[in-house]
Amino acid sequence: MNIICIGGGPAGLYFALLMKQQDPAHRVVVVERNRPFDTFGWGVVLSDQTLDNLRQADPTSGALIADALNHWDDIEVFLRGRSVRSGGHGFCGIGRKHLLNILQERCLQVGVELVFEKDVADDQALATEYQADLVIACDGLNSRIRTRYADVFQPDIDNRQCRFVWLGTHKTFDAFTFAFEQTEHGWFQAHAYKFDDKTSTFIVETPQEVWEAHGLQHMEPEQSVAFCERLFARYLGGHALINNATHLRGSANWIRFPRVMCKTWVHQLDLPHGRVPVVLMGDAAHTAHFSIGSGTKLALEDAIDLARTFGAAGENPDMQVVLQQYEDRRSVEVLKIQNAARNSTEWFENVTRYTDMPIEQFTYSLLTRSQRISHENLRLRDAQWLGGFEAWMARHLPRPDGSDTPDDAAPAADAAPVAGAGAAPPMLLPLQVRGVRLKNRIVVSPMATYSAVDGVVQDFHLVHLGARALGGAALVMVEMTSPTPEGRITPGCTGLWNDTQEAGLRRIVDFVHGQSSALIGLQLGHSGPKGSTQVGWEIGDEPLPADGPHANWPLLAASAVAYGAQNQTPAAMTRADMEQMRDAFVASTRRAMAAGFDWLELHCAHGYLLASFISPLTNRRDDDYGGQGSAGLENRCRFPLEVFRAMRAVWPQDKPMGVRISAHDWVDGGNDADDAVQIARLFKQAGCDLIDVSSGQTTRDARPVYGRMYQTPFADRIRNEVGIRTMAVGAITQADQVNSIIAAGRADLCAIARPHLADPAWTLHETAALQSPDVAWPRQYWAGRDQMYREVGKLQQAGAAGGAVAAADAAAKAQGF
Ligand SMILES: Cc1cc2nc3c(=O)[nH]c(=O)nc-3n(C[C@H](O)[C@H](O)[C@H](O)COP(=O)(O)OP(=O)(O)OC[C@H]3O[C@@H](n4cnc5c(N)ncnc54)[C@H](O)[C@@H]3O)c2cc1C
Ligand SMILES: Cc1cc2nc3c(=O)[nH]c(=O)nc-3n(C[C@H](O)[C@H](O)[C@H](O)COP(=O)(O)O)c2cc1C
Repeated sequence: MNIICIGGGPAGLYFALLMKQQDPAHRVVVVERNRPFDTFGWGVVLSDQTLDNLRQADPTSGALIADALNHWDDIEVFLRGRSVRSGGHGFCGIGRKHLLNILQERCLQVGVELVFEKDVADDQALATEYQADLVIACDGLNSRIRTRYADVFQPDIDNRQCRFVWLGTHKTFDAFTFAFEQTEHGWFQAHAYKFDDKTSTFIVETPQEVWEAHGLQHMEPEQSVAFCERLFARYLGGHALINNATHLRGSANWIRFPRVMCKTWVHQLDLPHGRVPVVLMGDAAHTAHFSIGSGTKLALEDAIDLARTFGAAGENPDMQVVLQQYEDRRSVEVLKIQNAARNSTEWFENVTRYTDMPIEQFTYSLLTRSQRISHENLRLRDAQWLGGFEAWMARHLPRPDGSDTPDDAAPAADAAPVAGAGAAPPMLLPLQVRGVRLKNRIVVSPMATYSAVDGVVQDFHLVHLGARALGGAALVMVEMTSPTPEGRITPGCTGLWNDTQEAGLRRIVDFVHGQSSALIGLQLGHSGPKGSTQVGWEIGDEPLPADGPHANWPLLAASAVAYGAQNQTPAAMTRADMEQMRDAFVASTRRAMAAGFDWLELHCAHGYLLASFISPLTNRRDDDYGGQGSAGLENRCRFPLEVFRAMRAVWPQDKPMGVRISAHDWVDGGNDADDAVQIARLFKQAGCDLIDVSSGQTTRDARPVYGRMYQTPFADRIRNEVGIRTMAVGAITQADQVNSIIAAGRADLCAIARPHLADPAWTLHETAALQSPDVAWPRQYWAGRDQMYREVGKLQQAGAAGGAVAAADAAAKAQGF
């Protein structure tokens, strides 16, 4: 085969080397516009796993790269004159030049032809000149070839919000260093690490507006480097910052990171000598933000994959099949890393959300920013540091405004009989809201059970909610309960408009208070346009069957917008309807008070009545209660706020009241995360104590992006931008996830829904898996508790549980840091 690689970066050189080594009969040419020993950039980071891949693919260069690598274990974070250092992160760095030189020499050894100082303007002419059978477009992130065939590759390029510059220094950092410095215009951050005996990479990054406010766009490169030197002088120990990119073609100084992804990676050229595929590889095909250090890894692993696929295909490979396999496999891998990279990019772009946190929590948030590295991963990396952090959390219980309440944690009175090594894990720390103290951070999320009769709770509810109150969660939420008969979702939903309903609920509240250490909350909500539907195990959200025992009842909503073609069209509420509705909510609030509930939540999510006001997709009003776009948001929130305020006015001052919102409609033209911040701000001003952050279900067109903890980033943003407590919910299934959410300050509480349907004692069982003594079991169950702790302990000693955490940690490391 005649192969041409356009671009002599890691992707092109490594692919050339592997193909030539695999079959010396191939003619392989690498064409590079720069000189052989001339390249931009400083160090690059490789994980241990990537190194193993390199050793396997080509032991000779693998050994040379391994020898040249600088290992480090520690990450050190500097903020406001303090620093925190943790270990066990295990990465290694190598100079980019050194890496390229190793690959260039190795290419020459095996017979690859290297052509330098040739800037390829026309890939087709080059392919014709060399009579190429295969063209690899490995010409970097600004790929000319990708641009030329953009209609085929369909690149999606997202230029991110920050500006960054890739510098070097002879200050040798002994840890991977993240330094944050504030100026009069905003924050700058440096990502620095040593990659050989005398040099470190030093990347400086700042939001575009801060960069502009400092006039950096008008400065010569030397001036802007001098600016960075002054700003980060305290970390540089008198050493200079060095820019080695100014003289190179195609290099840039301060750039905005382009996140690149391509719909397809292969294009067929029709050339005089035949059909020739051109294939994207490395940064030309995809990029991953430098803050997770995976760009070079991806480029090298692309090369390994394609070379192996050719190797496995034998003498006369079916080019199309080979290239399709490469694209299919690699695009999945890339997507995983780009997901982790997106969270990391956004964390750095929005660092001001976190800079008011104490550095202990700030560091934890930074380390877990991609949501790939969990609490137990951190324990595996540095148990001593994590133990110290847990003790700090337990002493300080940091709040969303960055303040803390020292020494507020109390050990559980009837704790499990295990010799606890340290402080309670974050999920088991108490939370004080107004006069209410939750014993830990776990909430049984409100879940409709469709088992009420005429809105009255039954024995089922007593046993169902009672079991969950005994199961270790701090707060058990009763399902959405309606203030009016028509406000129920289904005929099986609970209501609170009469004495019988109130008495039924009081019986459950009394049980929870008398027999458990949990507290109990009520979620009040009206179904609006999604009412009069079948129960959950029939067809959810479908109208009642015409011939069933229950007739459909008329619906109310913000506007006459049906939830779906099959649903009834609701009547748009008049002002009189609104007043009546507000009063009904207030009457139910008084009943909730009389029933003895500890916590009240107003349901403003999921497309129900109050949500139908908030979303522009369902609110088409042109009065004071409607309005499109972000400008109309305040109007759309007016009625839900009116209801909230009226309820808050009668709800006891010492008891908390929260609101559940849909933080994203997941459809164009709907509310998004920016709107959610504004909605939360309005409820905060109205006296709301906590935002319960859900999303979607406001329209049938919604296309949510699911994944573990997928709604938690909204809770994080609202908590840390608005300064209000949040409850995270949605696909949180493990204590490990709850611990990292609470510890990082992404939320103050975690609501667990479906796992509590499977296991009423979810909190007790998850805590047993952690072998933590910091939870109280009902005394009737102590014998079961002791056995469970013993059995889990034995399993863990046998290595089973630790193995899973170690495997997850290895996977996280393989995806960057
Ligand atoms: C600030 C910064 C920090 C980074 N840090 C890391 C890190 O820590 N770890 C990591 O793994 N990655 C890091 N990366 C990313 C990494 O540099 C790239 O992902 C990696 O180099 C991709 O390799 P590549 O071969 O695809 O592209 P490149 O390395 O960009 O190579 C492309 C080559 O093609 C040449 N070329 C382009 N056009 C032409 C043309 N028309 N004719 C001839 N030659 C051409 C270029 O001169 C260049 O040599 C970082 C990137 C940046 C910007
Ligand atoms: C059977 C069922 C009923 C639900 N009923 C309600 C409800 O009454 N009120 C509410 O706000 N959310 C309700 N939800 C949503 C959950 O509270 C929760 O937000 C969602 O299930 C995501 O959490 P999970 O991934 O832990 O299940 C319900 C969910 C389920 C599975």
